[in-house]
Amino acid sequence: MTIIDKTENAPVARGGDDSGQPLLQVRDLHVEFATRDGVVNAVNGVNYEVAAGETLAVLGESGSGKSVTAQAIMGILDMPPGRIPKGEILFRGRDMLTLSNEERRRIRGRKIAMIFQDALSALNPVLTVGYQLGEMFRVHQGLSKKAATAKAVELMDRVRIPAARQRVGDYPHQFSGGMRQRIMIAMALALEPDLIIADEPTTALDVTVQAQVMDLLAELQREYNMGLILITHDLGVVADVADKIAVMYAGRIVETAPVGELYRRPAHPYTRGLLDSIPRLDQKGQELYAIKGLPPNLTRIPAGCPFSPRCPKAQDVCRTDLPELHQVTEADGGVLEGRTSACHFWKETIHG
Ligand SMILES: Nc1ncnc2c1ncn2[C@@H]1O[C@H](COP(=O)(O)OP(=O)(O)OP(=O)(O)O)[C@@H](O)[C@H]1O
Ligand code: SF4
Ligand SMILES: [Mg+2]
Repeated sequence: MTIIDKTENAPVARGGDDSGQPLLQVRDLHVEFATRDGVVNAVNGVNYEVAAGETLAVLGESGSGKSVTAQAIMGILDMPPGRIPKGEILFRGRDMLTLSNEERRRIRGRKIAMIFQDALSALNPVLTVGYQLGEMFRVHQGLSKKAATAKAVELMDRVRIPAARQRVGDYPHQFSGGMRQRIMIAMALALEPDLIIADEPTTALDVTVQAQVMDLLAELQREYNMGLILITHDLGVVADVADKIAVMYAGRIVETAPVGELYRRPAHPYTRGLLDSIPRLDQKGQELYAIKGLPPNLTRIPAGCPFSPRCPKAQDVCRTDLPELHQVTEADGGVLEGRTSACHFWKETIHG
């Protein structure tokens, strides 16, 4: 079996910026929280890359470390109790964890923006949306109030809020959930960042609105040639918009693959379980598969493969040896670009 060198195991990204650097590289990132019940090992050696114009979907059950990884990139982790004992977060090749506070502030917010799940709590209820959108331009670009409001209207148009000019003076609660999420997207886009991290941006919306907001995000991402990290626990949502997927379990990446490949033939039993739990139109009426059991307690992650207590394919070795992230190959040994799996039995899973 090929075991990938830890320093080079992030999947190869397409494109990159002018200097040939990927936009963002997360390397061997560890995050832990000191709590009364012990140390929560929330992120345990995450590696991923995003290029300009590329969408990476990060997928996994609740508690798998998706948001904590994103918060570390954005520099909004609660520290303490959070701590980053190990790892690098390279933005255009520079490690954000070693930059001065001033340099870091310049990058975060301007170059990297974040969209959260809950627009209502992210927006200030007592300020109009026009004021909040305009603030980006007043503070960062020194525009006058009038010019900033004009920019706010332009952005609201851009994210297709009907009658933007009339609605620029409205308050967040006067908009529907879907419209509020569009306003969040507009805020994130305001300074034309290089990278957007969207953490469950459509989870609070109903299904049809979800698809519209996701399509809008994908369209703007292409137009602005931004990198996009799309965090979700819903495989169905990302199928049409992502280029590649990283599946997380218990603070680790357990599988990476181009999106179509992952759906067609997963190389990790956990991914297979996630795929089998998606409702399908052609299987109406059948009982939906669910992965048995719960993710491990992150203060006491079991020895061996963290998925072993739930894995239908587990063998003895799984309970003792932690699987490395293996390069996934065709049955004849041909390398599958960007495909990795942290399973001792990845060959049986993908080719079996
Ligand atoms: N401030 C904190 N203090 C203690 N533990 C924390 C803190 N923030 C996150 N955690 C823990 O870190 C782990 C990873 O959390 P994270 O929010 O990244 O999960 P997630 O994958 O985003 O899940 P979800 O799909 O529910 O959003 C969880 O066990 C969580 O309880
Ligand atoms: S290493 Fe073993 S327990 Fe873990 S996913 Fe693979 S087969 Fe299952
Ligand atoms: Mg989360």
